[in-house]
Amino acid sequence: MKISHTLAKLALWAGLATATSFPAIDSNLTASIATNPNISYVDISLSQYNKPVLFVGQSPFFYNGIQIRSDNLRLLWDMTPEEIGQTYQVAANAGFTVANTQLYWMDVQPDSSYAATESTCIQGGSSASANFANSTNDKISYQSSNTSAQSLTYLKFDFTNYTLDQIDAAKIRIYVPAAANNQQPFTASLYDTLTWNNAPNHNGMNITGNGDYWLASSSPSWDPIMSVSYYDFDASDFIINHCPDKIASFILQPQVNLTSFINGASVAGALSATPPSLVLSSTASWNYSYVDTMLGWAEGADIKLELLWFGSDSSGTTMDTRVPYFVYRHILVEKVQTDGTVVPFMVKNHGAAYGVYWYLSDKNDFSLRALEKTALKNVMNHIAEYNSANGDKKTIVGIDVSNEGLVDKIQAGTGGGSIYENPATWSARPLFSSEAAFVQRTMWEYQVNLANAVKESYYPVWTRSNINRGLGVQITYNELMRQNGGTSVDFGGLDPYINNASLLWQFGHKQVAIGGTNVNWATGSNVPMIMENGGEYNNSEWLILATVAGGGYYNVYDFMDEQSYNMWVPANKAAGNYTPVPAGSFVSGVSSTNNLLKSLSWDLATKVPDGAGGTDLVFFNTLNDGNNLTNTLLSVPVTYSPTTGGIGIGIVQNNQTILLTTTRDASFNLSGIASSASVAYTNGNPYLYSTTGQDMLIEIPQSTIVQIKLNNRNPGRSGSRATRLQARSNHIKK
Ligand SMILES: *[C@@H]1O[C@H](CO)[C@@H](O)[C@H](O)[C@H]1NC(C)=O
Ligand SMILES: *[C@@H]1O[C@H](CO)[C@@H](O)[C@H](O)[C@H]1NC(C)=O
Ligand SMILES: *[C@@H]1O[C@H](CO)[C@@H](O)[C@H](O)[C@H]1NC(C)=O
Ligand SMILES: *[C@@H]1O[C@H](CO)[C@@H](O)[C@H](O)[C@H]1NC(C)=O
Ligand SMILES: *[C@@H]1O[C@H](CO)[C@@H](O)[C@H](O)[C@H]1NC(C)=O
Ligand SMILES: *[C@@H]1O[C@H](CO)[C@@H](O)[C@H](O)[C@H]1NC(C)=O
Ligand SMILES: *[C@@H]1O[C@H](CO)[C@@H](O)[C@H](O)[C@H]1NC(C)=O
Ligand SMILES: *[C@@H]1O[C@H](CO)[C@@H](O)[C@H](O)[C@H]1NC(C)=O
Ligand SMILES: *[C@@H]1O[C@H](CO)[C@@H](O)[C@H](O)[C@H]1NC(C)=O
Ligand SMILES: *[C@@H]1O[C@H](CO)[C@@H](O)[C@H](O)[C@H]1NC(C)=O
Ligand SMILES: *[C@@H]1O[C@H](CO)[C@@H](O)[C@H](O)[C@H]1NC(C)=O
Ligand SMILES: *[C@@H]1O[C@H](CO)[C@@H](O)[C@H](O)[C@H]1NC(C)=O
Repeated sequence: MKISHTLAKLALWAGLATATSFPAIDSNLTASIATNPNISYVDISLSQYNKPVLFVGQSPFFYNGIQIRSDNLRLLWDMTPEEIGQTYQVAANAGFTVANTQLYWMDVQPDSSYAATESTCIQGGSSASANFANSTNDKISYQSSNTSAQSLTYLKFDFTNYTLDQIDAAKIRIYVPAAANNQQPFTASLYDTLTWNNAPNHNGMNITGNGDYWLASSSPSWDPIMSVSYYDFDASDFIINHCPDKIASFILQPQVNLTSFINGASVAGALSATPPSLVLSSTASWNYSYVDTMLGWAEGADIKLELLWFGSDSSGTTMDTRVPYFVYRHILVEKVQTDGTVVPFMVKNHGAAYGVYWYLSDKNDFSLRALEKTALKNVMNHIAEYNSANGDKKTIVGIDVSNEGLVDKIQAGTGGGSIYENPATWSARPLFSSEAAFVQRTMWEYQVNLANAVKESYYPVWTRSNINRGLGVQITYNELMRQNGGTSVDFGGLDPYINNASLLWQFGHKQVAIGGTNVNWATGSNVPMIMENGGEYNNSEWLILATVAGGGYYNVYDFMDEQSYNMWVPANKAAGNYTPVPAGSFVSGVSSTNNLLKSLSWDLATKVPDGAGGTDLVFFNTLNDGNNLTNTLLSVPVTYSPTTGGIGIGIVQNNQTILLTTTRDASFNLSGIASSASVAYTNGNPYLYSTTGQDMLIEIPQSTIVQIKLNNRNPGRSGSRATRLQARSNHIKK
């Protein structure tokens, strides 16, 4: 083993020496290999098994997952940690071997938010002597000929209890509860004032004073005040450089150049339900308490956990709820419009958990890459500490470094569009033969940078990435890189959202047009995985089995959510009862099948199924369509007869033993072995069967595993159990 390991290394060096060079954007980026002991990894050596095998610790791992949107359960439904923990327990009871859930960059580098302590507005004309200190809404408006339509808003924030000594960015967020007057969009400016008392420096419209105020920021042309929404004003300079007493006062003033009509809007005040807020963001802000909470959920349920890193790109966007505000300073993808103005790629939402501003940050901004790598690496190092302090359970087994990442989503609303070649970061573009090749490299470098954080940490686990539309070529590229210098992204998978079992079966072993891609996901050393597929599909049980039979792995999206993909739903959401109940009668089949598969974990993790060309792991009635009822195991012809549907599974356990099982009551006919075989339960107790001539007829109830021992056989097979056990122990020694 030691020798072949060394040989493998030599082969790698040889490969490197002869590697073709591929153009790079960051020429310093190389794929990292874990030097600390792997917590999990993919064994792609094919030295013990005939396929890439997922390992957790020293054991092959059978992946059968479900996504739990802990973020939405927490942020949208306000479920308690105990209630969310229950979802992990239900998933574990249903036989899933792994749950995956979001970790926002913001979760570990949280911004601090301070509601305005005071706000008021002043209004001229007929309201010139009115005091608005107690009003829930303040006003900003201006009409030159009508002093009654001139108003300014004053805001005060107190962040004296902020403890970090470093602030890297700050913003003021206001809420406009009603559409702007006359539906005219307008911009506004935020003036910093040194003290509250000298704040009222104005002459009706213009801010006056002797240099004791200055313009902090104005709403940009791409975000005029108009609709009911939140509006952000960057206040970084004032807060960072000019606010030593940590009490910040501002005047908010409409910027108008039109005189013929009123421009203005209400601003929800300090006493409203949506008060103005000051958001402070620091690269020195770290908080791992939510990571620990998630670990607690998974450990309480005894299920493995994967984290989906929702960083500067989650589902193609940089969302303000998911990334700390300091990242805003790296929103480099700016479009120079035909009139010369520069605008970021941005779409605006009004939702709570899904954020207000969605940007597209630039994946080729190297300083952003560095910040994000640091964040993820620190998370992994924290997990390493947690793991050693809590019994080395290796609960977290994988990181999805990029969830449905894209470079073009924001360009055309949320749908996607043509790619903008940013002059600031596309200097390497001429090295590439096409825009598509440059984008492919961009995505790969972005993901490898994050995967490197995982591999370089004290808690190296497998790294993956999921896509939801036609970027399947990334898999091909990742495999090409694996052969030419290496990759730290272990595998890529697809979110197809289809309920066609035949396509899912093909996905694991051959080129197939599926989910907007048409590639072979089993190419090279890639582990083909359906990374999201609707939990609401009433044939989910058959989809899981078809995927596994075809050579792939399956992950359900999702457990329970406000979206329409639920496999479970709250018992009575209106009454605040979030106890998960199955979304349909099909869930009990998913659960019994999953638990059966889990009991076959080792074989499913290590053997190539018949769909992918294997002979030691075969499926009967694979697509639950009445076809493919016969197979051969250790040269014995076996026929499956389902009673009410169901899928049979046959496993060659060693050169004399076959395991048979079924997902529904069924019978198996084994030809020609009645006088030379014995049948037993897995605990060794004899199992009753009948014979017809030399045929053996075995009736097997749902989920029961039966062992058929062939006597006096010398089939001369390779890969006996003894050999494999030896191989496994060699592996452990390595
Ligand atoms: C690569 O590293 C060198 C040496 O540290 C540095 O001078 C150069 O700027 C780096 N290049 C890039 C693209 O980061
Ligand atoms: C971790 O696993 C990878 C992939 O199998 C392997 O290349 C690397 O050498 C392992 N690292 C250690 C420290 O064992
Ligand atoms: C800090 O002040 C804000 C309001 O300015 C308040 O909401 C928060 O609870 C305070 N935090 C602590 C720890 O006192
Ligand atoms: C605001 O409300 C407080 C408490 O009710 C009251 O004492 C104060 O006079 C009110 N101020 C104005 C300007 O109405
Ligand atoms: C002046 O503005 C006030 C407040 O918006 C409005 O009620 C009034 O109708 C306006 N007067 C004229 C003449 O437009
Ligand atoms: C406000 O300032 C602008 C120029 O900045 C000036 O044209 C206008 O007259 C000023 N208005 C008042 C009321 O001072
Ligand atoms: C006046 O405002 C309109 C609408 O906000 C804007 O398009 C225009 O550029 C502004 N003109 C000047 C001179 O500021
Ligand atoms: C860390 O975050 C948790 C919420 O996840 C919060 O309860 C706790 O107060 C935070 N700790 C610090 C030091 O801010
Ligand atoms: C499922 O996909 C297969 C292609 O493999 C196709 O022949 C079949 O018609 C599809 N079934 C449905 C119901 O669309
Ligand atoms: C399963 O879902 C399909 C739609 O995808 C529907 O046509 C069918 O009636 C459902 N079957 C059952 C048993 O609910
Ligand atoms: C079913 O059997 C046919 C004929 O041998 C084969 O071509 C096909 O791939 C099998 N399908 C499955 C899902 O095993
Ligand atoms: C079959 O397995 C037995 C042990 O289970 C071993 O003694 C025998 O050598 C094996 N035969 C072959 C041909 O691998």
